[in-house]
Amino acid sequence: MPDPIALVPLPQSVVWSDGTWETNDPWDGLSVGLNDALPATEYALSISPTGASLTAGSEAALADGRNTFAQIVTGANGAIPCVTISDRPEHAWRGMHLDVSRHFLPVEEIETLIDGLALHRLNVLHLHLTDDQGWRVEIKGYPRLTEVGAWREQTLVGHMSGDEESWTFDGTRHGGFYTQEELTGLVEYARKRGIMIVPEIDLPGHMQAAIAAYPELGNFPEQQLGVREVWGISDHVLGVSDEVFDFLRDVLTQVADIFPAPYVHIGGDECPRTEWERSSAARARMNEWGLTRVSEIQGRFTQFAADVLAEKGKRIIAWDEVLESHLPDDTVIMNWRHGNGVKDSTSRGFQTIIANNEHLYFDHYQGDPAQEPLAIGGRTTLKDVYTAAFSPRKLEDAQEKLILGLQGQIWTEYMPNAAQVQYMAFPRLCALAERAWGSPEQSWEEFEERLRAHLPRLDAFGIRYRPLD
Ligand code: ACM
Repeated sequence: MPDPIALVPLPQSVVWSDGTWETNDPWDGLSVGLNDALPATEYALSISPTGASLTAGSEAALADGRNTFAQIVTGANGAIPCVTISDRPEHAWRGMHLDVSRHFLPVEEIETLIDGLALHRLNVLHLHLTDDQGWRVEIKGYPRLTEVGAWREQTLVGHMSGDEESWTFDGTRHGGFYTQEELTGLVEYARKRGIMIVPEIDLPGHMQAAIAAYPELGNFPEQQLGVREVWGISDHVLGVSDEVFDFLRDVLTQVADIFPAPYVHIGGDECPRTEWERSSAARARMNEWGLTRVSEIQGRFTQFAADVLAEKGKRIIAWDEVLESHLPDDTVIMNWRHGNGVKDSTSRGFQTIIANNEHLYFDHYQGDPAQEPLAIGGRTTLKDVYTAAFSPRKLEDAQEKLILGLQGQIWTEYMPNAAQVQYMAFPRLCALAERAWGSPEQSWEEFEERLRAHLPRLDAFGIRYRPLD
């Protein structure tokens, strides 16, 4: 029979049958239980005229099953079609990254996004908590991080041209931060929906907000910087004093305690070396450490962060630039600069998450830039996400096994509020979810038709999205 209900992502096996289950309270009528006989990643959901049953091999798989059930009952209006579903994901990591530094998002808006991730059986929210333009996490003992570092006086209007003279600013103070208590609440909100929050503290670059709060964290402490008001890459990176490493220990330890995930993302991207090259303190440190190349300073930061987090039982994840200097063997690489990087990181034995900017940067335009709201640039359509070859070069089986999964990126330079974040995330996130889940392959047209029938669920959740073409 034709599918009476469109599911996104499509489960591995769905068999609809005649008849309906008449109920006005489907959640009350759903029986739920773990089943040791099922593989840990698998769930089985069946709906018959007399009720519904969900069993799964683990709590995580139960959450996936509940999220599929949510799709079936949303808008069902008292008569739910009978069905037997047997399902499991291809990838363990089905993620979405969210930059709350460039624009702060209130906790309730992050919760709405978490609802949207869960609805699509995504299971990781990567929270980019710190950057040059704003520090967003309360750290005990460092009050100026949030009193000073969480606020910028104004923000660049429009694109950042090379001609500084032409820059104009909005004249509006922007900022905000999350208390540790709020973040603990958010972690619990996400956990109940099957989602792990992985925090990112971006280091040793992308640290201008922290250096504005505490100039002694920089390479030139006599220099008082402000929180950055334009985009692009800042030259102001962490210095190399003992104080800096003490600071990082405190930050990473507290962050590790707030977020129970077994990973902390330590950034590592886009760290210019110009300040280290100019700094006599950095030169002295290099001698002490026995380093001959300035680029190796970053490797010291990577190893230090990994050691601190290992004491907390956690592994580091980092953007792919960390491959260019020393790094621990158990680092998880987040591949962003080019899809071919996946081959490099996995052939060196590193577990890798595919997050590349050709297909998975949801800050790019999703249609003709002349018809779309201002975005950073590039163009990545819904179809591009659904049909992407994420890893362009052929991988050996051993390398394939090192791929943890896929992740979409929401960088918010040009997303000043939740409505714009949602517009950029959806419906590309639906295609990402389908690929990360490893749904049975369909043609683009079949997917588009199923998605068209699915989109009213986003309306029901109060989530804005770009309409289909
Ligand atoms: C990045 O886009 N800088 C990871």
